[in-house]
Amino acid sequence: MKVTARSTPNIALIKYWGNRNNDLRLPAYDSLSMTIDTPSVDITVEDSENFSLRSFLADGTEKNLEEKDIARFMKHRELTNHYLHFLGIEEMIPENIAITIESGIPPSIGLASSAAVFSCIAKCYGSFGGTELNDEQVSVIARLGSGSATRSIFGGFSAIEAGDGNDIDTAKGVQIADESHWPLYDIIIVPSQEEKAVGSTEGHAIAQTSPDWTQRVEAMPRRQSECISAILNKDFEKRQVVSEEDCMDMHHVMETSSTPLKYLSNETHRILGEVKELRSSKHLEVLYTMDAGPTVHLFCTPDARADILSFANAQQGCTVFETTVGPGTSMIEKA
Ligand code: DP6
Repeated sequence: MKVTARSTPNIALIKYWGNRNNDLRLPAYDSLSMTIDTPSVDITVEDSENFSLRSFLADGTEKNLEEKDIARFMKHRELTNHYLHFLGIEEMIPENIAITIESGIPPSIGLASSAAVFSCIAKCYGSFGGTELNDEQVSVIARLGSGSATRSIFGGFSAIEAGDGNDIDTAKGVQIADESHWPLYDIIIVPSQEEKAVGSTEGHAIAQTSPDWTQRVEAMPRRQSECISAILNKDFEKRQVVSEEDCMDMHHVMETSSTPLKYLSNETHRILGEVKELRSSKHLEVLYTMDAGPTVHLFCTPDARADILSFANAQQGCTVFETTVGPGTSMIEKA
């Protein structure tokens, strides 16, 4: 058997940071994002004589995988088998499979490459046996590899419903509105291509050590419901206010955890200052958000797109990506 799927990152408007169960990546609260249409990852999973995992970058060069990368995929397959068993499905993902990743996403630059990779492999696993899993079940498999991957299964705008308890299926993805609902852009400014020192997995595990963690958790249900209604009503300003508040709050929690995690650089802060000036002088519908890195995402409406693109392209030494709302994870080939 051989299956190939394609997926893209999603960028959170209400951020997931911190788990109630780190092993199963069960988030502490709900979160919300927009799935973008590019860059994409293709993954092929096929039967093989032994286990192999190979990863290729956009230019065709093979990436040198570290022990910990391979261990993460092995653990993910093991957790996927636990989940399939939980569902009462007899067919498990075999030990000897060949996984080939072809990624158009530069690694570790705040472009959610793990979200695209684990949603993509979840789609392959969910179709590997005789049983075709539904999107909700595939989103659970995605979550077992990377929390934010739960949301990339769906196109448009989607949420993680965190649920409660410690059962493997208690947190899952749900679509809020599909990709045709609201044509928005995410113009991405990448100030640095360096790999980050502390990844999200380690970060989630220390989120609770911030003195402001409890306050964050208490604010999340209000933020989530405000952002969902702003999306459903296409209310850009409401969405901007709540998502910027949540983004800066997440970075505050990161910076006050022990060890402090400082993902935003001076470049990030300079760009934010200039975006705010541009927004008020030209009355543009644009909002900023950053994940675990210095990369700035500028979400904007079609009317603001040209101004935001020329602002982004004027940033010295930065890489710029232009993206729009994407369709989520899809099956490319099954044989
Ligand atoms: C800051 O999903 O990358 O991007 O489960 O360890 O892969 P792992 O964490 P990950 O965490 C994402 C955190 C975030 C916010 C978000 O996407 O909601």
